[in-house]
Amino acid sequence: MYYPEDIVEEVRSKNDIVDIISGYVRLTKKGSTYFGLCPFHNEKTGSFSVSPSKQMFYCFGCGAGGNVFTFLMKHENATFSEAIQTLADRAGVKLPEVELSDEQKKQMSEKAVLLEINKEAAKYYYYQLRGQSGKIGYEYFENRKLSAETMQRFGLGFSLPFADDLVQYLRKKGYRDDMIIKAGLASHDEKRGTHDKFWNRVMFPIQDMNHRVIGFGGRVMGEGEPKYLNSPETPIFDKSRNLYGLNFARSSKNDYLILCEGYMDVITMHQAGFTEAVASLGTSFTSGQASIVKRFCESVILSYDSDEAGTKAALRAIEILKNVGLSAKILNLKPYKDPDEFIKNLGKEELLKRIENAQNSFFFEIEVLERKYDLKDPGEKTNFHREIAKKICNISDELERKNYTDAVCDRYNISVDGMNKMVISYAGMGVMRPIEPPRSGIKKNNPEEDKKKAQRLLITWLCEEPGIYDSISEFIGSEDFTDELYRKVAEKMFADIKDENFEPARIVSMFDDEDEQKEIALLFNTKLTGPNGLPVSFDSVTEKEKALHDILVKVKTSALEYYSAKTDDVVSIVRMVEARKKLEHLKNSRIKID
Ligand code: UTP
Ligand code: MN
Repeated sequence: MYYPEDIVEEVRSKNDIVDIISGYVRLTKKGSTYFGLCPFHNEKTGSFSVSPSKQMFYCFGCGAGGNVFTFLMKHENATFSEAIQTLADRAGVKLPEVELSDEQKKQMSEKAVLLEINKEAAKYYYYQLRGQSGKIGYEYFENRKLSAETMQRFGLGFSLPFADDLVQYLRKKGYRDDMIIKAGLASHDEKRGTHDKFWNRVMFPIQDMNHRVIGFGGRVMGEGEPKYLNSPETPIFDKSRNLYGLNFARSSKNDYLILCEGYMDVITMHQAGFTEAVASLGTSFTSGQASIVKRFCESVILSYDSDEAGTKAALRAIEILKNVGLSAKILNLKPYKDPDEFIKNLGKEELLKRIENAQNSFFFEIEVLERKYDLKDPGEKTNFHREIAKKICNISDELERKNYTDAVCDRYNISVDGMNKMVISYAGMGVMRPIEPPRSGIKKNNPEEDKKKAQRLLITWLCEEPGIYDSISEFIGSEDFTDELYRKVAEKMFADIKDENFEPARIVSMFDDEDEQKEIALLFNTKLTGPNGLPVSFDSVTEKEKALHDILVKVKTSALEYYSAKTDDVVSIVRMVEARKKLEHLKNSRIKID
């Protein structure tokens, strides 16, 4: 880790985890904890929890967890230094200067070169489109009713039907073949040498949010496969974190964005004045894109084809948008298939009306469901109603839930009472059960796992009730934790509790590895569960003291076994003797919790 621990801790403590995560996930408070839909796996019920007192997040579904740094690193796919920089800026903490390693310097200058190459290529294609050899491309765009101004605004271009004219041009500008290839603009083989990737296509430069060209899409002239060829992912082109048109759409004054399927949709939309239009880059919409979009708008209007593929893509996008707390609406372009055709036939005023009347995603989802059932059949009808109930169940806001229930019951002639009963029965079954999730690769009834479990339980318990440390400190020390990770955690935890300065989230920062952070988050966020999987509650203090005693005996016994097996070093022998003594003492003592 590059930064001193106190700086890391200062930045962490000045960024409240609930504030930060609320920027990405819609959270609802339940008791002292916030819950929402996990941004790290696809889910319909909120198993993602954020604890303000622990300053940690933890997902009971997929096990993702950690502190505010972990969250940012995972969500933004960032390194620790990027995460701490973002959070330090946000909190106004000045970070000490860090020396870049040679490797990091190399990566940075490499990115700069790749950006230059893409920019030069865009200029070249742009120039070709307007020249004699690019006429076919220019006419193509004209036929699609693009004005010269629009073509210029989007920097549209043309790649000539020659094998390596771009490569030659870039070489003359001084770029090396390996960098041209790395930029995704050429490939190399023995027969042809280094040759252009794009060939006889109209070219759509793809810009990042700061108007820098990071890649291209190229459409074939006439028929041919593939219709659109896109730059591969490169160090500067991450398809899951950029959107076509966002460089312009980000400055739109409306609080929504329109998500279209392709480059041409976006361009026609913008030309017609709908500058909120964006599109994903030849791949499906991702959660990375959703969290970027979230910075600029409150809702997203989906403009996807109404065919089966388009509907499926829309349903997936709705889910992804919901996960980051954005609401989705569906644009109805019928009887036309895309914005392009729609505008040509009905004009932009009509499109504006359709945008204003875009359908709420809830009803869109219900309508898609409806198609699967024969509502004349009573059994199928009931199943359809059950599916509606499940959907309603996922709406976390109470008022919103009531409004949707009323509206959907009204539309399908369902009794509101009956629907409410169904919703309640689903709510009782599904949501938010904080039970320790199964951990991968660990079999049940494994003695090693049993020992670890006792250690884990003890840490979890202390995290919930640091006060009991006083009652047990004479029997237990961090050296009793035979699992290395638990030992490190216990050591720090005991020291902090003694100093009356225990904060779980700080302990997470001590570990660099994501898997370790996840494991610690599990330790600190597990509710104590009994053998039946239900949260443990004790009938009396005596019972609780006895349970604690049992756990301590287990931990001590496994420590004794561990050190007995390692009698070849002196420290272990000493530990073994001590453990045996303390275990005897423990067995003859009662734990008292005041
Ligand atoms: P479409 O085939 O719907 O494109 O693909 P379009 O906008 O209607 O194209 P035109 O109107 O015929 O020119 C939508 C998007 O899917 C990606 C591209 O990003 C395209 O804009 N796509 C499509 C590809 O990446 N490769 C393909 O072969 C086809
Ligand atoms: Mn089209």
